[in-house]
Amino acid sequence: MSLSLLLPSSRPATRLPRVLPERPLRAVLLGCGTVGGGVLDGLRDGFAGDVTVEAILVSRHRTGRAPGRFFTEAESVFATGPRLVIDCLPDGELAETLLDEALRSGADIVSANKAVIARRPDFAVRARERGQILRYAAAVGGELPVLETLAHVRSEGRSILSVAGVLNGTSNFVLDRLAEGASLDTAIRAAQALGFAEADPTADLEGRDAAAKLTLIARAAFGVDPSRITLEAIAEDTPERVREAAASGYRLRQVATVRAADSGIEASVSLTPRAPGDPLGDVRDEENAVRISCHGGDTILLTGRGAGREATASSVLSDVSQIIAQRCGQ
Ligand code: HSE
Repeated sequence: MSLSLLLPSSRPATRLPRVLPERPLRAVLLGCGTVGGGVLDGLRDGFAGDVTVEAILVSRHRTGRAPGRFFTEAESVFATGPRLVIDCLPDGELAETLLDEALRSGADIVSANKAVIARRPDFAVRARERGQILRYAAAVGGELPVLETLAHVRSEGRSILSVAGVLNGTSNFVLDRLAEGASLDTAIRAAQALGFAEADPTADLEGRDAAAKLTLIARAAFGVDPSRITLEAIAEDTPERVREAAASGYRLRQVATVRAADSGIEASVSLTPRAPGDPLGDVRDEENAVRISCHGGDTILLTGRGAGREATASSVLSDVSQIIAQRCGQ
């Protein structure tokens, strides 16, 4: 991960009472796939004494998993009385229902679920009203501190003009493979095998995944959601466009942009050729790059791994650390 111009000296802290002096913090994990598995390993290796994972919600039982710890029913997971719910479920009705349940339970929440958080802005409002912490750094930019940086910029009283970025690692990976001559199907299958793609990869390719991230960015940068986001999908004609761009030394990229305009918030996800030396063009494979343009001419650039087990899990674990710090004072 690299950052230029400005780095928050520390991640912003919400002022909340330290109501959880007891350690370890009792946590449950919703989902144990690519990201959830990485989070579980990270909690075991780096959070001993701080967090205990009381229960893990999985879609099916597998041999080798400790009985009494893995459950296929959410009721059994919530019955353990968690103070922290970590959501690594794929997008869908189940994730939305269980985040709602987590809010009702009074627990603090860490979620990697951009689509649910994007379409349910009320979750953050309810959490704030009830004094619960809801953090979702992993929902945008993998290991990049995109939302934290936007919050920091705004906390300094600086206003943001626009945010543009490569926000979807799968699309970037696929476009790179197409540039090497792979077929669209082969490129998508490789992205799935590496754990970058969503359960439904059309969300990546059609720009819906980037659009959900863009909604969270708009919320953090401008305090409102875009009323509309125009989308351009990676489709059958994309390999030809990749070749045309490459013939001029350019790289086709899925670029998500949001800016404040007189008419409101303008937002789009489109496929655009980027010149060599352009940071949004130079990102490779599953990397993401985000450029934040502020009033007064300052530009902040964040680049790093945007998808995959380690990148996303490390961001989830960073949110867990923040909650421990906020609640327990370290
Ligand atoms: N499918 C997403 C991507 C995962 O490729 O960027 C990380 O949000």
